[in-house]
Amino acid sequence: MKLIIKNGTIVTQSESYKADILVEDGKICAIGTAFNEDGANVVDASGKLVLPGAIDAHTHLAMPFGGTVSADNYLAGTRAAACGGVTTVFDYPMQRKGSGIIETIEARKEMCDEEACVDYAFHCCITDLNDGAILDEFKDAVDYGVTSFKCFLVYKKEGMMVDDGTLVKILLKAKETGAITNIHAENPDVIDLNIEKFLKEGKTSAWYHYLSRPEFVEAEADKRAIHWAKSVDAPLYLVHMADKEGLEAAIAAKMDGNDIYIETCPQYLEFTCDVYKREDGRNFVCSPPMKGQESQDALWKALKTGAIDTVATDHCPFQSYEKDWGKDDFTKIPNGCAGVENLYPYMLSAANEGKLSFNRVVELCSFNPAKIFGCTEKGSIAVGKDADIVIYDTEKEFTILIDNMHSDYDHTIWEGKKLHGYPVMTYVRGNLVYDNGEFVGKPGLGEFVKREGRK
Ligand code: URP
Ligand code: ZN
Ligand code: ZN
Repeated sequence: MKLIIKNGTIVTQSESYKADILVEDGKICAIGTAFNEDGANVVDASGKLVLPGAIDAHTHLAMPFGGTVSADNYLAGTRAAACGGVTTVFDYPMQRKGSGIIETIEARKEMCDEEACVDYAFHCCITDLNDGAILDEFKDAVDYGVTSFKCFLVYKKEGMMVDDGTLVKILLKAKETGAITNIHAENPDVIDLNIEKFLKEGKTSAWYHYLSRPEFVEAEADKRAIHWAKSVDAPLYLVHMADKEGLEAAIAAKMDGNDIYIETCPQYLEFTCDVYKREDGRNFVCSPPMKGQESQDALWKALKTGAIDTVATDHCPFQSYEKDWGKDDFTKIPNGCAGVENLYPYMLSAANEGKLSFNRVVELCSFNPAKIFGCTEKGSIAVGKDADIVIYDTEKEFTILIDNMHSDYDHTIWEGKKLHGYPVMTYVRGNLVYDNGEFVGKPGLGEFVKREGRK
């Protein structure tokens, strides 16, 4: 299969230039001009940007959570991904007491092999060390191509939290085996204390979700994770950072030369905690919650200076009726929101409006996640890379509506958001999967991304 994308402006993490791309057998095999068009599918990208597909390094598809399962399975979630220019998703399979890492991953891989419409990789959440057997499996997991493990410092009652001793064991074993540890940082004991108090006082609206886990609750756990990673000199990736104090601590640790990476999400860049005062505030309930304006300003500043490494979504949508379980008690609201289809359009629209450069958005959403997590074939428009390509129209106006999304959920926190510019075509390894508003891919096209460990 030969594909030529011509006359577009190629955007990488470091440069933008006009050139044509020749794709053969799913790979970018040449970049230049005047390629022989015999037998080729030729796509004219005049006036458009040609970008590497985004890598959403944080999704929860078909995830059992909050008394239900997240609304997008692998088919719906990756169909939506394709339509938003995301060509690889990183999902988070959940290891549970008594089960192994490879076993956990393979159960999910089976689902993906049938359903995934874009490529996929896994970070494995570790919730129990099984008397140490899990640590012995890290090396096998890395050889398998799963080179990152996630620890929750929160969700104690849900049986997902690891204590500090377990965290340090994981940090050390990850370092030894060439893996990296991802952390969800919030302080569970303070959250529980606050929840108990608010419920006793009859304070049950979504606003109290925020007040039970405000800035300092995240900051303490961020700093604790950073402290342990620094102490044992292990790599650390802080997921979905939303608070200024923790962010500043992470930036300071990075500047001191520690191997620390920072992820934030579009919802923290767009919304503040004020959304929890809205009538539909429960739809915005995710953890960590959106924070105040100062935190949001700090996130944007860190995006601009280069201190934040990645933007990913934490895509974990639930249906309205499930969010409604918490109408009269915020603790019953399943945590999580939709975003996989909005990540690249939102960030690229920010570039189109001059808030960031297009190169920086490519760096945050494609190049850096590929580099940090060992996706050697992805993350750039360059010869030898997978032909994961997005054609982007800077002139197209788009309003996000539940009716023009491609997931299975029934509402979105992004409803009514106006974007300047929008992806018009997405290719996964040279296969067209999205064409001007329509999903044109197929389930099962997505392949497992076998990642390289850290050297
Ligand atoms: O609210 C969220 N973020 N739900 C998904 C699970 C997690 O904490 O990442
Ligand atoms: Zn999390
Ligand atoms: Zn998450």
